Amino acid sequence: MPATADAPDTYDLVILGGGSGGYACALRAAQLGLSVALVERDKLGGTCLHRGCIPTKALLHAAEVADETRHAASIGVNAVLEGIDLDKVLSYQQGVVGRLHKGLQGLVASAAITYVEGGGRLVDAQTVAVGDRILTGRHLVLATGSQPRSLPGLEISGRIVTSDQALGLTELPERVVVLGGGVIGVEFASVFASFGAQVTVVEALDRLVPAEEPSISAQLTRAFRKRKITVRTGARFSGATQGEDGVSVTLEDGTTIEADLLLVAVGRGPVSEGLGYEQAGIVVDRGFVPTDERLRTNVENVYAVGDLVPGLQLAHRGFAHGIFVAEQIAGLSPTPVDDTLIPKVTYCDPEIASVGLTEERARAAYGDEVQTYDYNLGGNGKSQILGTQGFVRLVRRTDGPVVGIHMIGARVGEQIGEAQLIVSWEAHPEDVASLIHAHPTQNEALGEAHLALAGKPLHAHA
Ligand code: NAI
Repeated sequence: MPATADAPDTYDLVILGGGSGGYACALRAAQLGLSVALVERDKLGGTCLHRGCIPTKALLHAAEVADETRHAASIGVNAVLEGIDLDKVLSYQQGVVGRLHKGLQGLVASAAITYVEGGGRLVDAQTVAVGDRILTGRHLVLATGSQPRSLPGLEISGRIVTSDQALGLTELPERVVVLGGGVIGVEFASVFASFGAQVTVVEALDRLVPAEEPSISAQLTRAFRKRKITVRTGARFSGATQGEDGVSVTLEDGTTIEADLLLVAVGRGPVSEGLGYEQAGIVVDRGFVPTDERLRTNVENVYAVGDLVPGLQLAHRGFAHGIFVAEQIAGLSPTPVDDTLIPKVTYCDPEIASVGLTEERARAAYGDEVQTYDYNLGGNGKSQILGTQGFVRLVRRTDGPVVGIHMIGARVGEQIGEAQLIVSWEAHPEDVASLIHAHPTQNEALGEAHLALAGKPLHAHA
């Protein structure tokens, strides 16, 4: 019999939200012998598994296969791209999501976790109500995540969609306007272009992916233009109207762009409204829940993790937060999660991967004592084989460690692991230069960049 208000269930932790942050916290807490209730109103796995990372990367993989097929004949493999069968693409995507979902459900079921389906709401700082069921926690973990946001006055409906709806389109649009040239914007622009649509990206700031190094933004813009994607930066959106046949998007400079679909990708906002956080005394700032570096909210024994906490909105940050909080509650004194050491990968074509400081941030921290080095993928054998262009950019403290690594080119996301070790372990270029990188891999480009910064370039043009 589930407990009711008269006879509450009591746990070491009650976790609200079963996405990356929440379920990671639950699994780690259970491993550590803590009693856990995990409350989820939708599907276990949250945004990442059902509406984010996994389904979008499946689409991006299908997009890559389409492009490879389109270009196959140029390397002597005669093939013709006959078209995109969106139903099949979606069933492939759902197959991937479904298998991972099943696996995750199995993991949670086999751990000593009480999984509670339903919308939870804080009654006070120790108590969560899920319908009639009352769960009491010695600790509460808020892990309710984020959702796409729109602009004031821009209603999401019909041909005006966010990434949530874009993942389930039943028809491929011929002309798409993507509003926002951040991570979601450039990934979807890439997919739609690969699937044959005419794409225009509208970005208010002066460059695409504004959180990355400016030279990465410039390279991406060049690559997109080569792919016939129209890039409009410094362009402010003014309004959109939709009818039976399309949507008209107007910019502040008076330009109107006609399209079949407007994808709004202007950021994601927190999910915290109506969940009783403020009534329980928890400080909420524009919907986000601020914490200290140990992820404690202002209320004792209440923690927040993942996208709900201001900072990078990434699934792997959520996992790290969740694990951290479980260990913290178990008394293990874990090391806090440092956003600057979190690797970032954007899976458009070409891919972008980065970790650590940009040159600008390094200069803000270390003044003139900063050196950079760009290694062009033109000198890398595997990059030539793949036919990709791009570079690896290192940022180091003069005579000191590498503090930032930034990469663009096909498949560079796969290189982020080594880049992360270099930056997190504060390696000097000389340390990396002494490691042998396998040939021919794009990984060598990382090695070559460090060789060059260590003063002994091999395949590097001055
Ligand atoms: P974002 O913050 O990365 O980009 C939003 C972009 O929209 C910004 O460049 C902003 O300048 C622009 N913008 C805002 N208002 C605008 C306007 N009125 N007109 C034109 N442009 C406007 O947010 P995004 O792309 O929606 O992604 C949300 C979060 O999800 C990000 O934190 C991102 O890191 C995360 N994410 C990560 C992925 C990955 O790791 N591969 C994939 C997808 C999302």
